[in-house]
Amino acid sequence: MKLHNHTTKIAIFASGSGSNAEAIISYFNAGPDSRAEVALVVTNRPDAGVIGRAHRLDVPVTVLTRSELADPDFMLPLMDRYSIDIVVLAGFLMMIPPFLIHRYEGRIVNIHPSLLPRHGGKGMYGRRVHEAVIAAGDTVTGITIHQVSERYDEGAILFQATVPVHPGDTPADVEARVHTLEHHNYPRIIATLLPDS
Ligand code: GRF
Repeated sequence: MKLHNHTTKIAIFASGSGSNAEAIISYFNAGPDSRAEVALVVTNRPDAGVIGRAHRLDVPVTVLTRSELADPDFMLPLMDRYSIDIVVLAGFLMMIPPFLIHRYEGRIVNIHPSLLPRHGGKGMYGRRVHEAVIAAGDTVTGITIHQVSERYDEGAILFQATVPVHPGDTPADVEARVHTLEHHNYPRIIATLLPDS
């Protein structure tokens, strides 16, 4: 789909600490790629760490409820108010409603902290994923950046990268290694979705 000829506006949806959100905002709003701008951060948790990071980086934040997220009359005007072209999920723990997925078909992406289809699916998020990697005895793990479809973690894969799992690693060790990989790659893969790339 051809996007308008203006700075591409990104909304980041995040429920947690927001380290990926910060990496993406830093990359576009103040960093090497000025073709896009993170114009809005959306969260469902009033205590999420991402809120402080967004404020510090001068990005507006909307905290919404489950019923607001599910309501097209709330969500679509919100997206329009900030002229959102691309939706980026970065640790967002609520299900994206189908009307939003359809509106942003091909322009809504997620990151998962494992090599999907390994360790994906319902309930697999955060530290639990890295615990499962260790419990399974995997010697390699990584990240998956994928399109969002109506079935969780099953949209088309855009990118994967790997890191080793060392003997004796704790879930926190694996998580730290995966996070570094995420922060480096997520902004660069989002950049490939921009109109003139
Ligand atoms: C990341 O590991 C991401 O892959 C997953 O949730 C985590 C969010 O971390 N979907 P942060 O809030 O960006 O630090």
